[in-house]
Amino acid sequence: MRQLAPVLRQDGVNSNLMSLIQTLLTACKEISFHVSQGDLAGMLGATADENIQGEQQKKLDVISNQLIKDVLLESGVVKAIASEEEDTTVAGDENGDYIVSFDPLDGSSNTDINSLIGTIFSVMKAPKDIAANDPALFLQKGRAQVAAGYVLYGPSTMLALTTGNGVRFFTLDKTHGEFLETHSNVQVPKDTKEFAINMSNQRHWQPAMQHYIADCIKGETGPLAKNYNMRWIAAMVGDVHRVLCRGGIFTYPQDTKNPNKPYKLRLLYEAMPMAMLVEQAGGLASTGYENILDIQPSEIHQRVAVILGSKNEVETCLSYHQKA
Ligand code: AHG
Ligand code: MN
Ligand code: MN
Repeated sequence: MRQLAPVLRQDGVNSNLMSLIQTLLTACKEISFHVSQGDLAGMLGATADENIQGEQQKKLDVISNQLIKDVLLESGVVKAIASEEEDTTVAGDENGDYIVSFDPLDGSSNTDINSLIGTIFSVMKAPKDIAANDPALFLQKGRAQVAAGYVLYGPSTMLALTTGNGVRFFTLDKTHGEFLETHSNVQVPKDTKEFAINMSNQRHWQPAMQHYIADCIKGETGPLAKNYNMRWIAAMVGDVHRVLCRGGIFTYPQDTKNPNKPYKLRLLYEAMPMAMLVEQAGGLASTGYENILDIQPSEIHQRVAVILGSKNEVETCLSYHQKA
């Protein structure tokens, strides 16, 4: 099995981007260790604080954010970072080539139940004419990503990575502390019989999603003519990993549960990097009306509706939106 560096070199990744990815992964290895110690290290549970988005921070959210932030800002190749757990962007090296957006710990409600969690990241070139302390650095479409991925802290710690040359999986060999390539050319099957959605929000969805899911549930004798299965991990990173492994459709649609928050997932550090991975693996990622990678961001913590996964199934779901 190959280590990360030769694989990245083969994919034509330059030395600065390679060093950025490796630096980021040193923090992820440490997070993986802390996560695995759980209650033994007093790592579980919440803090007394909320992030800028009004969500209570878990201890592991804060620790993971600090670890990633520190290594990236000291790397010398990062001009600025944007994180779910930071109010605004944080400046790094004025001459840094890259900017990084990340969700330090996705699915943090799963920390206390020893279930799937992960780190999601997105890397773009830093515009030369915008200062390191200006959040405008980050207002670029998802198409501008030069690398995207996640590290899943599960029964094994896995990295899913794209640098624009398809998707590869790596597994952390904990005896040597190295990520080894365990799957190249990851492909999302075009068809699926598996959907992932938080069904408890059903009454709050828009009519298009109501109709699509209702038709899924009708099964073989309904208009979609197949029996579906449902899965929900409550961590996007876990649900997207399943989609990359065996296909499926994952969605967190618009809802009216909280009028001030029509969408749940964040564009920069959840939707965009996952959209790049899914598209690089032959799948599709949309809001229902627009490809996620074509959205022009206006704000670093902005949220969007997400429908992603197996191409034909996502297109079926989009056809309900076109009709609506
Ligand atoms: P985070 O823990 O980073 O705030 O993200 C949680 C997100 C996402 O990972 C997941 O798909 C979704 O919230 C789960 O939402 P529900 O609580 O509605 O299941
Ligand atoms: Mn998240
Ligand atoms: Mn998070």
